[in-house]
Amino acid sequence: MLDSFGRNITYMRVSVTDLCNLRCRYCMPEDGVCKKTHAEMLTEDEIITAVQAAASLGITKLRITGGEPLVKKNIVSICRRAAQIPGIREICVTTNGTLLPELAKPLREAGVSRVNISLDTLDAQKYRYITRCGELSQAVDGIHAALGAGFEKIKLNAVLVGGFNDDEIPALAELTRRYPLDMRFIELMPMVDSGDFGPEAFIPCTVVLDKLPELQSVEPDGGVARLYSLPGAKGSIGLISPVSAHFCKECNRIRLTADGKLKPCLHSADEYSLKGLDYDGMVDMIRRSILCKPSWHGTLDAANRSRAGRDMNQIGG
Ligand code: 5AD
Ligand code: SF4
Repeated sequence: MLDSFGRNITYMRVSVTDLCNLRCRYCMPEDGVCKKTHAEMLTEDEIITAVQAAASLGITKLRITGGEPLVKKNIVSICRRAAQIPGIREICVTTNGTLLPELAKPLREAGVSRVNISLDTLDAQKYRYITRCGELSQAVDGIHAALGAGFEKIKLNAVLVGGFNDDEIPALAELTRRYPLDMRFIELMPMVDSGDFGPEAFIPCTVVLDKLPELQSVEPDGGVARLYSLPGAKGSIGLISPVSAHFCKECNRIRLTADGKLKPCLHSADEYSLKGLDYDGMVDMIRRSILCKPSWHGTLDAANRSRAGRDMNQIGG
């Protein structure tokens, strides 16, 4: 359906858990999350009802996120049931990849068409630093498992952190020549209290263009990334710049958190609770939240942090 600024809302991001087996510095606090009680979270049936309600209002694309969605025990069942809902044409999953060795095939068979895998660095020590506990080899194994499972598209997401991984832009981009993978560079978003990054960490995506003068511009694919490719590459390179050039005018998405709050805008505190509602109640609430979607998220920088009221692991990116 159209929101009050004429944007057609067709895409819902569904966070199925706040929990994660990593602790990325830009995403969540070191001590993890204050674990909400089970009763506060949406059940599998409520998630499915919410997707049915959203589909009735014109949502066609879902992205399953977290936290880390693959730590959720019933993730394959959630994806399988969501894929069967009339109107849902595409299900994508965003994951850190570490559990894909076991789950890539079952997810593909359940109807997941695409996966996005986080990969900020190719250096095992730096990977451990940014994730606070992760093993790079597990994420790499996960990427290979995804390549073997027959997804329609696999994207790697690197959050650009000045002084941390800007020196690896060429090496990360090079992966698109060796593998049928798309690489996405994402500007670091200043969330509520995740990451003590100083101003030098917030660099615009355009540094990718400075480091890779051979990049050629390619046609956009309907997403929010500006797309390029390296000569002879199998996959594209995309720049996602929520901070330096926000894409609120074209924003077609809403977000559902694991505790059942609909967020019409990532960086706004506005939330509409679906918890405990039946199908009709959810349809009404989703409609109301879409009509209240703000026109843009306001200035974001180290001094003006997100007004989301949550860290990224509690929203789903
Ligand atoms: N800024 C930008 N992207 C973020 N993500 C998480 N936190 C942030 C942040 N502060 C994105 C990463 C990760 C996905 C799960 O969410 O791209 O791959
Ligand atoms: Fe976990 Fe992803 Fe957040 Fe990292 S970015 S802590 S892998 S949810």
